[in-house]
Amino acid sequence: MSPYAHITGWGMSVPSRVLTNSDLEKIVDTNDAWIQSRTGIRQRHIASDDETTASLARDAALNALRVANLNPTDVELIIVSTSSPEHVFPATACLVQDRIGASHAGAFDLSAACSGFIYALNMGTQAIRSGSIKNAVIIGAETLSRFVNWEDRNTCILFGDGAGAFVLQAGEEPGGVLSAVMRSDGSGEDLLSLPAGGSFMPASADTILNKQHTIHMNGREVFRFATRVIAQATRETVENAKLKIEDIQLVIPHQANLRIIEAAMRGLEIPLTQCFINIERYGNTSTASIPIATCEAIQQGRLHSGDNTVFVGFGAGLTWGATLVRWTGPLLPHRHIYPTSYRLWVAVRSQLLRFVRRIEGWIWGRNI
Ligand code: ACO
Repeated sequence: MSPYAHITGWGMSVPSRVLTNSDLEKIVDTNDAWIQSRTGIRQRHIASDDETTASLARDAALNALRVANLNPTDVELIIVSTSSPEHVFPATACLVQDRIGASHAGAFDLSAACSGFIYALNMGTQAIRSGSIKNAVIIGAETLSRFVNWEDRNTCILFGDGAGAFVLQAGEEPGGVLSAVMRSDGSGEDLLSLPAGGSFMPASADTILNKQHTIHMNGREVFRFATRVIAQATRETVENAKLKIEDIQLVIPHQANLRIIEAAMRGLEIPLTQCFINIERYGNTSTASIPIATCEAIQQGRLHSGDNTVFVGFGAGLTWGATLVRWTGPLLPHRHIYPTSYRLWVAVRSQLLRFVRRIEGWIWGRNI
């Protein structure tokens, strides 16, 4: 029988700098009352110059490994879901692999905007269920503040930075990720996009002048789409797991807009008290919002071993998806490890590898 994929570790990391709605009032023509009533957001965290998508992802991953009691060298797969990668290539996941010292891991980025964490969770689960790996780290990480047009009040009020991570481990006990739904509709490509910087519209003086390296969004259309697909995907994933909506203890939705969440939960006839919401403090952290919300749900005692939990997200693409997870918690600790204390060793290891590569290059260069 194929093993189950259990979530045995979780961690988050957000920048310390906070931008409140009243701070935004000084930047664009907006006000706290409007933002709170239309979105539910009070503040968001914004990366400082020395914080990047990879550094937030690394910290979230190390926190998750500590909870799981798993050594980074036991990790076999790292998926970083992000729409604000450090570079077009190399993948941000490879930078994280190096910075946590996961010397036996394959690593790649996944681009499915705010639905990315759901997609990544499903990909990691399938790798475990197929028997090809035992341990994976799934990360959602964003610094979308670097891609926001700070003159556009329709979008700049929404987004925040942060990262969240899960450790997935194989186990024989039934539980963990039980079903998943992944959907897309590329005909909505223009509703939410970052038009320039790719191969279709490479960077030029014009693209910079026209602010085409920033987020463009049709808010009303995205709103309508989101309320429809959250309910649809939740129903489908619950059915796929052979359960009923009444069997769900907690829904952790993508935190994009409080009104979207309220409308979707009304449609599903799930009371808001069974839904975890923390958008007021983080804004929309895109693909990081679900794992960040999960960490806080656990901290607040809202998630217990055995609970049927739905994670549901939507975003640019258009993409959407949901998973049903029977919550496990950490497996019994078989040893005690402190991944964060590996930092020095990991930095030395990375420098050593770079040095060896230079020496090899020098020797080969002399022999050609
Ligand atoms: N402050 C004050 N007024 C504003 C602001 C602001 N920040 N932004 C817009 N307004 C004004 C508009 O100009 C408009 O004025 P008008 O009627 O004179 O033209 C009025 O407020 C209403 O604008 P709407 O766009 O209808 O406002 P709405 O209630 O739809 O809220 C919002 C806008 C918050 C963007 C909403 O549409 C929304 O949340 N949409 C979904 C966005 C989303 O979830 N995006 C992320 C997807 S995930 C991903 O992949 C990254």
